Amino acid sequence: MEFDPQYLAQAPHLVVFTGAGVSAESGIPTFRDALSGLWEHFDPAQLATPQAFRANPALVWGWYEWRRRKMLQAQPNPAHLAIAELARRVPRLTLITQNVDDLHERAGSPSVLHLHGSLHTPQCFACNRPFKGKLPCPDLPEQGGSLEPPRCSGCNGKIRPGVVWFGESLPQAILKAAFQAADDCDLLLSVGTSGLVQPAAQIPQRALQQGARVVHINPQPQECRAPQEYSLTGPAGQLLPQLVQRAFA
Ligand code: OAD
Repeated sequence: MEFDPQYLAQAPHLVVFTGAGVSAESGIPTFRDALSGLWEHFDPAQLATPQAFRANPALVWGWYEWRRRKMLQAQPNPAHLAIAELARRVPRLTLITQNVDDLHERAGSPSVLHLHGSLHTPQCFACNRPFKGKLPCPDLPEQGGSLEPPRCSGCNGKIRPGVVWFGESLPQAILKAAFQAADDCDLLLSVGTSGLVQPAAQIPQRALQQGARVVHINPQPQECRAPQEYSLTGPAGQLLPQLVQRAFA
């Protein structure tokens, strides 16, 4: 069945759940796309775990600083802007992202649940105190280049990126709010995610289980198992502005 854009205009509570694909058209690589995905070129075990940081903090910090700098140079794309526009149009929108960039905020989305943390909130690896200093801004480290992390002003521990690594728990209050929104919504747009990482991948499933419509927006066709599940095939930067325009024409 075809998705009627009017459903967007009629939903009392809309959830938008995003993954790396929503930022792909801003030039930020996804994780698992063939050829361009980060995990095609880098080993998550050496970069995205507490053990990796313990073993080689400069390698890990350098890699995340490279990503943070790339993200600062990137601009929100039409998909981020369409989601911000939706927040102004619908009665209630909860935006949940797995992304660690701030492109939703820079596009004008007023409130974002960051399930996997943010590159812009570094903290102490030893005492968890947020890092308040200014991050030194040397030239963009090369992919794979090392950079010594700054030190905590409280305990002199090493500063780590503010992202959730493999093997770590998600921020519990944010996960709870995200699950509650999924359980309560009428319509959920799942944009640019492979749906392979738990527990985030449960979010569209929870919405479906309580009867909400779920729409996947992805260049790769997504398998739809439920009658109220839809797959819109194409880049989010094209499809989302069209949907918003048709819903509120
Ligand atoms: P993935 O790289 O796993 O998936 C990206 C998805 O975006 C794929 O399904 C692509 O087909 C799709 N995609 C690519 N270009 C797109 C476009 N222009 N418009 C819409 N979709 C597009 O990224 P995530 O699902 O976000 O975890 O990955 C989940 C988590 O795995 C990430 O948050 C990260 C990673 O390890 C942490 O950092 C903790």
